[in-house]
Amino acid sequence: MSNYHIKGLEEYFNVYRKSVRYPEKFWEEIAEEHFVWRKKWNNVLSWDFEKPAIKWFEGAQLNITENCIDRHLLTNANKTAIIFEPNDPKEAAEHISYGELSKRVNAFANVLKAQGIQKGDRVCIYLPMIPELAISVLACARIGAVHSVVFAGFSSSALATRINDSSCKMVITSDGSYRGAKTIDLKGIVDEALNDCTTIESVLVAKRIHSDISMQEGRDQWLQPLLDAASTVCEAETMDAEDPLFILYTSGSTGMPKGMVHTTAGYMVGTAFTFKNVFQYRNDDVYWCTADIGWITGHSYIVYGPLANGATTLMFEGVPSYPDFGRFWEVVEKHKVNQFYTAPTAIRALAKENLDFVEKYDLSSLKVLGSVGEPINEEAWHWYNDNVGKKKSPIVDTWWQTETGGIMISPIPFATPTKPTYATLPLPGIQPALMDENGNEIKGNQVDGRLCIKFPWPSMARTIWGNHQRYKETYFSAFENKYFTGDGALRDEVGYYRITGRVDDVIIVSGHNLGTAPIEDAVNEHPAVAESAIVGFPHDIKGNALYGYVILKETGEGRKHENLRKEINQIITEHIGPIAKLDKIQFTVGLPKTRSGKIMRRILRKIAGKDTSNLGDTSTLLNPEVVEEIMKGAL
Ligand code: PRX
Repeated sequence: MSNYHIKGLEEYFNVYRKSVRYPEKFWEEIAEEHFVWRKKWNNVLSWDFEKPAIKWFEGAQLNITENCIDRHLLTNANKTAIIFEPNDPKEAAEHISYGELSKRVNAFANVLKAQGIQKGDRVCIYLPMIPELAISVLACARIGAVHSVVFAGFSSSALATRINDSSCKMVITSDGSYRGAKTIDLKGIVDEALNDCTTIESVLVAKRIHSDISMQEGRDQWLQPLLDAASTVCEAETMDAEDPLFILYTSGSTGMPKGMVHTTAGYMVGTAFTFKNVFQYRNDDVYWCTADIGWITGHSYIVYGPLANGATTLMFEGVPSYPDFGRFWEVVEKHKVNQFYTAPTAIRALAKENLDFVEKYDLSSLKVLGSVGEPINEEAWHWYNDNVGKKKSPIVDTWWQTETGGIMISPIPFATPTKPTYATLPLPGIQPALMDENGNEIKGNQVDGRLCIKFPWPSMARTIWGNHQRYKETYFSAFENKYFTGDGALRDEVGYYRITGRVDDVIIVSGHNLGTAPIEDAVNEHPAVAESAIVGFPHDIKGNALYGYVILKETGEGRKHENLRKEINQIITEHIGPIAKLDKIQFTVGLPKTRSGKIMRRILRKIAGKDTSNLGDTSTLLNPEVVEEIMKGAL
C-alpha cells in the first residue's frame, strides 16, 4: 500500500486512519519517499496551538526548486513542464520543458542576485499570467527570497499596502497585460503605487503588450536583456524546513489584509501529496487549473504541487469569455487536458450561455473536474457534471483556504463517491471538527457547526507577516486548541462535509475573499458619506454580490444619487480593485444598531437578500424604526 497515491475507497479509509493515529509517521514516510532533501529532519512535528507555534520537519534542509525542477531533469528533461496558452487564441501556445524551465529559472535567479536580492528579502511580483510569473516565483524560491505575489487586478493602493506591509525590495511587473479584448497598464499602476512606497530599490519589467511606458532611471529595468546576459546555472540556496517560502495576502473581516506566511518543507509535502491524490495525476496527463497565480490556488496547484510531481501544468492568460464563451473548452480540446480545475463562478457564467459553446469541442480527454473557492450550488454542479464531464469525470469539490496552503476536504476521484454540493471527506492528515457556539465539539453525524481543524497539517500557514498576535487571535482564539476556519459546515449521515459559507464578515464574490471593513473604509472616504455598511446578497453568477447601505452627510436628490454611486464605486476601485465594486447602493438615513453601537448586519443581510419574512429579534436595537425605513428603500 502506498500512502502517497490512494486509488480506492477502502485504501483511503485505511490511509486516513493511519494518518490520524500516527500523523508524524504518516507524513514522515511521505516526506522520505517522495522528495529530495539536503539534510533530513531531526523532528517531524512540534506544535502548540496556544502560542501558536507549528514546525514540520525541523532540522531538515532542502530547496523546493530542486524538488520541482532539478530532480526531473535526469529522466524528464524534455517533458513539458508548463504549457502557456495566451489570451489571444491566434497567438501560438508555448511549451516549456523541464530542461528549459530549469535554465529560465536559473537565469532569473541570477538576475535577482545581481540586483542585490538575497535570501530572506521580500520580492513583490505583480504580473499577468505569463510564463515570467511562474518563473519569477521559482527564481525567488531558488535563492531563498520570499515572494509576495499580488494579483494583477488589484489597484495601485492595494499594491502599495502589500508592498509596504512586508517591506519588499523589488517589484517584478510587465509593461501591461491582456485581459480579453482589453489591455491594462500594469506598469502605470506600479508607478503610482511606488509613490507611496519607500523600500523598493528596483523594478524589473517584462515586455508583454509592447506599450509605450515610462521607465524611471536608476530604478526600472527591462527584464529580457538582463535575462539574456545571465548564466543559466544557479546553485540552489540551502533552505531550512521552516524558512518562509512566500507571503500571500488574504482579506480579513477587519482592517489590513493578512500576509499569510507559508514555509518551505511542509508546504511542499502538503501541496505535492494533495495534488497527486485529488487530481489522480498520471505521468502523461495534461493538467489545467484556471486560477491566477496571484491566488493561493495558483501557487499550490499551478506551480508547486504539479511541478513537485513532475506534471505538465497549463497556464492560461485569458478569460473564459474571450473571444467567446467556448474558450475554456477550446483549450481543453487543443491541449487534450485531462484534469480541469476551476471555480463555481466561472461554471455559472458559462452555464448561462448556449450549450453549443461546449458541445462544439471534443472534451473526451477529461478525466477529473475540480471546483474551488466557494460552495458549488447544485445546478452548477449538475451542469458541470452533465455537459463538461459527460457524467464520466468525477467532480472534486475541494474545500481549503489561503491559510491551509493545500486542499483539506475533497473527494478522491474514482474512490470517494461524489455528492453534489458536498466536499465530502477530509484528506489524510486532516482532522476536522464541528463546534457549537459554546465551544464544544459536536460529535456524530447529521449536525452542523463551525468548522475547525484539531491537528496541524504540513502546509498550514505559520503566521501573519509582522503580526503573530493577529494570527493567534484570528485562527486560534475562537476555540481552544483548534484552528478556526471562519466557515460553517454540516456533516451528513455518512460523515460527508458540506461547507455552508463564511460565518464572519468575509464575503466571497466570484470566488474572491473580500472583507467588509476595508470596503467600508473606502466608501467612507467619499466626502459626502457619513457611514456605511456592506453585506453580501445571493447572486446567480458571482455566488455573492455586494450591497452597500450608505448614510450621507446631507441627503440629496435622486438624480445626484446616481453620480454618487459611480463615485463610490470609483473610490472602491482605486482602493481595492474592481472586484470589490458594489452591485447595489442604498442610501439610508440610519443603520440598525445594537445598544452597544454594533451594526446588526444580520438584518441588513436579510433585507439585501429580499428575505424579510422573519427578521428575528429586533427588540435589542437602539433604533428599531430604522429597519422599516430601510425595507421601504430596499433595492
Ligand atoms: O469560505 C471558504 C471558501 O473560500 C474560503 C477561502 O478563500 P481563499 O483563502 O481565497 O481560498 C480560496 C481557494 C482555496 C473558505 O474559507 N471556499 C473555498 N473552497 C470552497 C469554499 N467554500 C465551499 N466549498 C469549497 N469547495
